[in-house]
Amino acid sequence: DKGAYEFYMLKEIDEQPAVMHKLQAEYFDEAGNVQIDEKLLAEMTAADRLYIVAAGTSYHAGLVGKELFEKITRIPTEVHVASEFAYNPPLLAPKPFFIFLTQSGETADSREVLKQVNKWGYPSLTITNVPNSTLSREASHTLLLYAGPEIAVASTKAYTAQIAVEAILTKALAEYQELETAASFDVKSELTKVANAMQTAVDQKHQVEKLAADYLATTRNAFYIGRAIDYDVAIEAALKLKEVSYVQTEGFASGELKHGTIALIEEGTPVIAIITNKATAAHTRSNVQEVIARGANVITIVAGELAQPGDQIVLEDVHPLLTPLVSIVPAQLLAYYTSKNRGYDVDKPRNLAKSVTVE
Ligand code: M6R
Repeated sequence: DKGAYEFYMLKEIDEQPAVMHKLQAEYFDEAGNVQIDEKLLAEMTAADRLYIVAAGTSYHAGLVGKELFEKITRIPTEVHVASEFAYNPPLLAPKPFFIFLTQSGETADSREVLKQVNKWGYPSLTITNVPNSTLSREASHTLLLYAGPEIAVASTKAYTAQIAVEAILTKALAEYQELETAASFDVKSELTKVANAMQTAVDQKHQVEKLAADYLATTRNAFYIGRAIDYDVAIEAALKLKEVSYVQTEGFASGELKHGTIALIEEGTPVIAIITNKATAAHTRSNVQEVIARGANVITIVAGELAQPGDQIVLEDVHPLLTPLVSIVPAQLLAYYTSKNRGYDVDKPRNLAKSVTVE
């Protein structure tokens, strides 16, 4: 039920801090120990490479998962678009483990890959919001997102829940493998910080509504830029804006702009820069200067510790591998308000279905 909300999308954006708390309650015991089936951890530990397979927003959550798995557990990880993998699989490592990210658990493109994985006899995990969904039943293991029903076609709280579950899983794996990183990656308390930072971000919604009106009300195109983990978020942010507001939006690795795409920047082109990654912040800042010099109207979404005077959206700091959980929130809100202000049905964008059960 939408309650006082005009659209589910805003309700679901607002629910994200509560989903983080729910995941803490579901995946940690009272002593704060992470609870994940040891058989799953053993099978993942036996693998020499992880393959994350997904579509759309879930694919974007997989890109952040790669950062987590590689940086915390040191297991090489590849992320694949399901529809590409299905009929043109990459050369697999000798001991692959497959992770299917799917909010609905019904996406035909992902299911097609899982069918092949089962034929090959490789172990698999489905991370999904829907217990007993097709991909949950057909994979060797399931982890649930506990995000509650997601009604709006544009995925919001499932994306952040997927990243949080990936973080919880990396923590469990690091502990199981007795890695040094296990102690320093205190996911349970980091998720409390994340929930608070998300709340601060959703509480700034009226400021974001104004930015949407000032920068995006009539534009035909826009860019999100970022580097490293901020690039992963930039492409999810771009998908959000395009699918609900029909603004043609590209998510771009900001260093790549000068290799061609900067030719598209003209007077008034909106460019939204995401800057939470310390190692690349200065470089992204100089890319921002380059687009400003060509007339772009720039919005910056910046982590507190990297903020400078003039930044429009400043986020509370969280663990560097968890910044996507917070930096995506203003981008979700920008998409929501741009769509609403243009008079569209935010929850049911044209040409789209909530779950895509054809290939
Ligand atoms: O249910 P799934 O997570 O498998 O769905 C995958 C995509 O169809 C989905 O994320 C889609 O891209 C959303 N409309 C994005 O907001």
